[in-house]
Amino acid sequence: MLTVENANLHYGAAQALRGISIKAEMGKITCVLGRNGVGKSSLLRAVTGQHALSAGSVTFDGVTLNGLAPFARAKQGIGYVPQGREIFPLLTVKENLETGFAPVSRRDRTIPEDIYDLFPVLKSMLSRRGGDLSGGQQQQLAIGRAMVTRPKILVLDEPTEGIQPSIIKDIGRAIRYLRDSTGMAILLVEQYLDFCRELADYVYIMDRGEIVHEGLAETLDTPEARRHLTV
Ligand SMILES: Nc1ncnc2c1ncn2[C@@H]1O[C@H](COP(=O)(O)OP(=O)(O)OP(=O)(O)O)[C@@H](O)[C@H]1O
Ligand SMILES: [Mg+2]
Repeated sequence: MLTVENANLHYGAAQALRGISIKAEMGKITCVLGRNGVGKSSLLRAVTGQHALSAGSVTFDGVTLNGLAPFARAKQGIGYVPQGREIFPLLTVKENLETGFAPVSRRDRTIPEDIYDLFPVLKSMLSRRGGDLSGGQQQQLAIGRAMVTRPKILVLDEPTEGIQPSIIKDIGRAIRYLRDSTGMAILLVEQYLDFCRELADYVYIMDRGEIVHEGLAETLDTPEARRHLTV
């Protein structure tokens, strides 16, 4: 299980996270919802080691991650699908997938077949450049690349952003498959309420750097939860 406890995060004098505590359990999809700029990506940067906390802790599988570099966290089993996908545009699809080999041991340096079962388009485009793919295809590639690292938890930052509905469906199916087939934990950050309601086992709502609501996915339909999500 991943646990974030009383996390504060600053960019210079500006505070982006204020005493955040969340949990993401194995075999569950945990969703963090919030409007633009409330600190969702900052929370994931704290989990993946892209940005240090100024207070609080991140632990995974009983190991405290504070102070560990992103590479070391990937080795601990944290797979990251960043906002905006961050595909290497000049590398081929295959090479993009192979960048996921870096944190895994030599004998595990193969591309899992289920990536192609989930996203057949990647198989047909293996020798195309990442930059030539559509946004939706790049999103599938980013999830595939994270799967190559053999994660125990997959952390996704707004995977539906700017993606057409048919591919959003494929991504939802992939996330569910990963939870059910491997029992991994999924931590998903989103603005898209319906996507979260359909997928999530447990939800948090963030507002201005704080958790303002938590509960089962059904609780998203209460007026109190809605209030935090409408502009
Ligand atoms: N590198 C940075 N330097 C300074 N301030 C930053 C930096 N990154 C983010 N911020 C600020 O921190 C706050 C939280 O940003 P963050 O990117 O975590 O929000 P978000 O919820 O992911 O937003 P979005 O939905 O637009 O992706 C915002 O006010 C933002 O302007
Ligand atoms: Mg963000």
